Amino acid sequence: MESGGAAAVEAAAPPSVLLDDLMVSGEERLPTGLEELDRVLGGGLVTGSLVLVGGEPGVGKSTLLLQVLLALGGSGIPVLLVSGEESPAQVKMRARRLGEGASGLRLLTETQVEKVGAALERDRPTVCVIDSVQTLWTPNAAGAPGSVSQIRQVTGHLLRIAKTQETTVVVVGHVTKDGYLAGPRVLEHMVDAVLTFEGERGHPYRLLRAVKNRFGSTNEVGVFQMTGQGMQGVPDPTALFLEDDRRDSGAAVVAAVEGTRCLLAEIQALVVPSSLAVPRRVGRGLDRNRLAMVTAVLTRKAGLRLADQDLFVNVAGGLTVEDPGADLPLALAIASSLRDRPLPEDTAAFGEISLTGHVRYVAQAGKRIQELARRGFRRVLLPKRSLQEAREQGIVPSEMLAEPVDEVRSLLRGVFE
Ligand code: TYD
Ligand code: MG
Repeated sequence: MESGGAAAVEAAAPPSVLLDDLMVSGEERLPTGLEELDRVLGGGLVTGSLVLVGGEPGVGKSTLLLQVLLALGGSGIPVLLVSGEESPAQVKMRARRLGEGASGLRLLTETQVEKVGAALERDRPTVCVIDSVQTLWTPNAAGAPGSVSQIRQVTGHLLRIAKTQETTVVVVGHVTKDGYLAGPRVLEHMVDAVLTFEGERGHPYRLLRAVKNRFGSTNEVGVFQMTGQGMQGVPDPTALFLEDDRRDSGAAVVAAVEGTRCLLAEIQALVVPSSLAVPRRVGRGLDRNRLAMVTAVLTRKAGLRLADQDLFVNVAGGLTVEDPGADLPLALAIASSLRDRPLPEDTAAFGEISLTGHVRYVAQAGKRIQELARRGFRRVLLPKRSLQEAREQGIVPSEMLAEPVDEVRSLLRGVFE
């Protein structure tokens, strides 16, 4: 072999195919029987796919997936649960709580992935749930179970089985507090779909989002309620996160669009004099960068004195809002708390705020306005262009006072002075 430089490698040309000649059938989908889950998946589980379901411990991953297996098994589909976290007795008790009938569900408490693979080859289930990927291990990789090298190997093994056997494999992955799949972002690249479960302990509602989906849109959310008998889909979640009708100072209602749905939520802000050199900026349920940005715009463009104030922001009900339309109500909530004056009653808002202090267009104004009207709101503040769009579509109800907003500074003057 030559030293230095790469040795020349002779290779025969591999055949390529003509796309026109290729015959493929569409993916086969298996509805799970849980409508909200199917909505997020894009119509059901795709045969032979590998799906990751992530979420913080306690959010309800094991519960939801057991419900799926019980439902599928109950309709005669071969299903297998591989549990590295719970004993058969614990699974049995949970299944009972979920109102298990005869389901034909097979259970395996094994953590070595090669053995799990052998069981899959023997049993050939249509759907297999692995709870959780962090408990599986292989002697072929270094590190403890849950380490990056282990998870990479284990997932690779499961992927091969899913593809060769046409078994749909759903793996559970725990997520740390800061929202990362413990250890491996690498996992997200290996799987066909990544669903994340959001929600907070103490709140019954859960949001399921597709953050990656090779077989569907990533633009959909499913809404569930944790009940005494497992996760129940919430088909009309619009006002779910609005806890009551009274709005104190520091609260503003947003009509947010998450996925294809409109959710109304209360954004709460508390502004208090700080005793710290660097005042606190604490946000829950909203992106930290957006909070910093809106605070900066309020300081610089609307003249709000926030530099010596601690600022706490929260979205009620444990909801996480990703819609940029939450900027405007966030600004209103902060201003309302600083002035200690509540916003006018029955008022909601949506709109993105730019660094120049202007309120920018957000999509789906018509849907937002309709949902607000349906829930008894009589006034909405929104970007000029969004209002124009809704008017053109003829969907601004006559009883709704829709006010276009162009600039944050003049808006706050108008609302609070
Ligand atoms: P679990 O599915 O174990 O969460 P994860 O697998 O994500 O860690 O569910 C956790 C919580 O749900 C647990 O605190 C008990 C509660 N729960 C219910 O409220 N109702 C139910 O029917 C079940 C099975 C669990
Ligand atoms: Mg669990």
